[in-house]
Amino acid sequence: MRHFLSTADWSKSDLQGLLDRAQAFKSGEVSRSLEGKSIALLFFNPSLRTRSSFDIGAHQLGGHAIVLDAKGATWPLEFSDGAIMDGTAEEHVREAARVLSSYVDLIAIRCFPDFKDWKSEREDPMITAFAEHATVPVINMETIVHPCQELALMLALQNHLGDVKGKDFLLTWVPHPKPLNTAVANSALLIASKFGMNVRMLVPDEIYRLDDRYMSAAQSFVEAEGASLTVTTDVEAAYSGVDAVYAKSWGAIPFYGQWEGEAEYRAKGADFMITPEKMALTNQAVVSHCLPMRRNVKIADAVVDSPAFLGIEEAGNRLHVQKAVMETLASQDGSQ
Ligand code: CP
Repeated sequence: MRHFLSTADWSKSDLQGLLDRAQAFKSGEVSRSLEGKSIALLFFNPSLRTRSSFDIGAHQLGGHAIVLDAKGATWPLEFSDGAIMDGTAEEHVREAARVLSSYVDLIAIRCFPDFKDWKSEREDPMITAFAEHATVPVINMETIVHPCQELALMLALQNHLGDVKGKDFLLTWVPHPKPLNTAVANSALLIASKFGMNVRMLVPDEIYRLDDRYMSAAQSFVEAEGASLTVTTDVEAAYSGVDAVYAKSWGAIPFYGQWEGEAEYRAKGADFMITPEKMALTNQAVVSHCLPMRRNVKIADAVVDSPAFLGIEEAGNRLHVQKAVMETLASQDGSQ
């Protein structure tokens, strides 16, 4: 049984298959492939786009979605094997995953890390436990990666750039008042490299390199595609001639859980907001962000409100790519 936990586990051709199916949905193809089927959407964190697009996507495919607020409306969950459950958790994932599996055909989970201990949180314990104990496919709605966002981004890039192989992609760290999850940055790195883009990462300091799991995966992906991966702190060099710019803010892993020490490094990126002046250095690049996004902190109004901005299209693509993922996983032999 196949899950959709990270695109790192899926081949480029399988991902392109999902993108092709998503493009068909985007072009108006109708399917009732979830007729009589259900999906549980389990949210440990807030959402606007993910919650709406999964619920509507399941409905459009003839299925039924049940949205569960895991931080208030369901029992607090434990995921560690062998835990003595004398704390706040009332239920173990071992039971919750199997019970939900007896009701629904797919389980989708959003569970951000706690920002306390990267060594344990990088193992993605909650969704990993669900995938182990569920008897139906599990979909990642954002944990330490955001694979559905990756597909939505790639669909937008392919629509605007055609074949993205060999095109130059800039993942730029942008300012934000507080350290954020690295999930979308990890994901942007994975998908751009997997599809053979020359990836540049612009960071305020080398300590903003992403976890080596993702840096190494990206390096092997670009090598396999004859592309390149570079990390720079030079704003002008980073923007020069690129075809696509992707904005994300994230916390520096070495300061994980002790964020006060990160402030002096964060300050080095104070002028990293995407502006028309920076965009003028590019090859008339498109620019995007996963949303939600703080205007005039991450990206200036003049860029967000320009035709180059793909953030709304990317968010719209979530509906189509997730329909492709749900349909593909629900139709697996032996998954029902
Ligand atoms: N990009 C994204 O996942 O949006 P939400 O957090 O609103 O779901």
